[in-house]
Amino acid sequence: MAEYAPQQNHPRPREAVRRASIHTLGCRLNQSESGILMDLLRRGGYELVPFGEHADLGIVHTCTVTREADAKSRQLIRSFIRKNPDAFVAVIGCYAETGHEALGEIEGIDLICGNQEKMNVLEFVAHGKNETPLIIREPIQRDDFTIAFAEGAPTERRTNLKIQDGCNFMCSYCAVPFARGRSRSRAIDNLLDEARVLVVRGAKEIVLTGVNLGCYAFDGLTVADVADRLDAIPGLRRIRISSIEPMTIPDMLIERMADPGHALAPYLHIPLQSGSDRVLQLMNRRYTRTEFTDFIEAAYRRVPDLCIGTDIMVGMPGETEADFNETRAVLRDMPFAYAHVFKYSERPGTASERLPDKVDPKTANRRSAAIRRLSEAKRRGFYERFLGRTVEVLFEQEQDGWWEGYTGNYVRVAARSSNRMRNKFGRVTLEGVRGDIAMGTIHD
Ligand code: 5AD
Ligand code: SF4
Repeated sequence: MAEYAPQQNHPRPREAVRRASIHTLGCRLNQSESGILMDLLRRGGYELVPFGEHADLGIVHTCTVTREADAKSRQLIRSFIRKNPDAFVAVIGCYAETGHEALGEIEGIDLICGNQEKMNVLEFVAHGKNETPLIIREPIQRDDFTIAFAEGAPTERRTNLKIQDGCNFMCSYCAVPFARGRSRSRAIDNLLDEARVLVVRGAKEIVLTGVNLGCYAFDGLTVADVADRLDAIPGLRRIRISSIEPMTIPDMLIERMADPGHALAPYLHIPLQSGSDRVLQLMNRRYTRTEFTDFIEAAYRRVPDLCIGTDIMVGMPGETEADFNETRAVLRDMPFAYAHVFKYSERPGTASERLPDKVDPKTANRRSAAIRRLSEAKRRGFYERFLGRTVEVLFEQEQDGWWEGYTGNYVRVAARSSNRMRNKFGRVTLEGVRGDIAMGTIHD
C-alpha cells in the first residue's frame, strides 16, 4: 500500500522561511489534498497567508483538465514569482505531472512535483533553492493508499475528504488518467480516522472526493459502504458525494439518499457530457443516452427532492448541430437541477486529438452559451419547487446581514439573521428566487 506522506520526521523549515501560501486550481480532489497540505504546513511551523500576499513559500496546486487550466496555472505562477522574487516556488499536481517541460521554461520555479510525491512537498522545500528547478516525477503507484494528515486547527467549513484517486476509463478527450494514474482507493480505517478528526475540529458536512468515486473498492467495500461508515460518526450531520460517473453508482447509494435517517445528502452530480449516442461513442463513454436517462429517472423517482447536476461538454470533434440538439433536449426534458458546461479542449496525448471534424470556436461558444442559459432556467425551476416549504440549511457565510448556505439537496439559500450562523443549521421557509439563490425567512 502506498503511503502518501510519512507521518513523522517532517523537516522543519529553515528559520527564515515562515510564511507560506497555497493556491489551488481545478477539482475538489485538488482542494481536499490542499486542505491536508495546509495542515502539514502549519504543523511544519509555517504561517499560512492568502495567495498574493508576501510569502516565503508559494505552492501552486495545478490542474490540466483543459488548455485554459494550464494557462491559468502558468499565469498564477508568474504573478506569484513577480510579487515574491526570493520565495521558494513549488508547482505541484496534474500540470506539474504532464507539463513539466513548459513549466521548466518559467524563470523562478524551484520545484516541479507531480502527483505521486506532492504530499511530500515540504521535504523538497527543505533542500532549498537551486540554480535549476528540482523536477520530481515518480511513477504513479497502482496500490491502494493511506494519507498522513495532521490534526489541524478548528474548522467551520464544509470539508472535502479524499477517498479515491485515478481513473481507468480513458474517455477519449481526457488528460486526467495520464496525470493521476490508475484507479486506487484509500484504506477505510485511514479515511475514517481523518473524518473523525474533521468532525472533532468542527466539520458538520463532509464531501467525498476522488477522480472516479464509483470505482472505490477497498476490502470488498464500495462507496455506499463508505457512506454508511461515515454515517455512524456522531456529530457528522451531512455526507455529500461529489461528481460520480454514470453506471458506477451502487443501488445502495441511492437507497441511502432515500433514507431520511441517513446523513447522505440527496445529491448527485453525474456527468452526461453528451446526449447523442454517436458523440458518447466518440468520447469513449461507457453508456448510451437511454441508459443514462433511465438511471436518473429511476433515482429521481426513488429519492424525494433529489438534486441532479451534470457536466456537459460541447464542441467535441465530430459534434454536429443535430448531436448538440439531442444534448440540449436531454438537459431540457430530464430532471436536472443544473449543468456545468465545458468547451472541448484538445489535450496532448489523448485519443480525441486524432479525431476529424473539429468544431470551430464560434460554434462551440454558441453551444456553450445555450447550455448555460438552459442551466440557469433549470436551476430556477428546481428552486421554485421549494417555495413555501421549510428546508434545513447549513450556513456558511454572511454578506450585508444575509446568511448564505446550502440545503442537503444543494439549494443555495440566503436568509437574514442577526445571529452568527456560520457552520450552524437553521430552518428556513423559502419565499422567492433571485438569480441563483433562494431567499427565505429563518426560524429561530
Ligand atoms: N476539454 C473540456 N472539458 C473537459 N473535461 C474533461 N476533459 C476535458 C477536455 N479535454 C470536463 C468534463 C468533466 C469535467 C470535470 O471536465 O466535462 O466532466
Ligand atoms: Fe476523465 Fe472519463 Fe476518467 Fe472522468 S471518467 S476522469 S472524464 S477518463
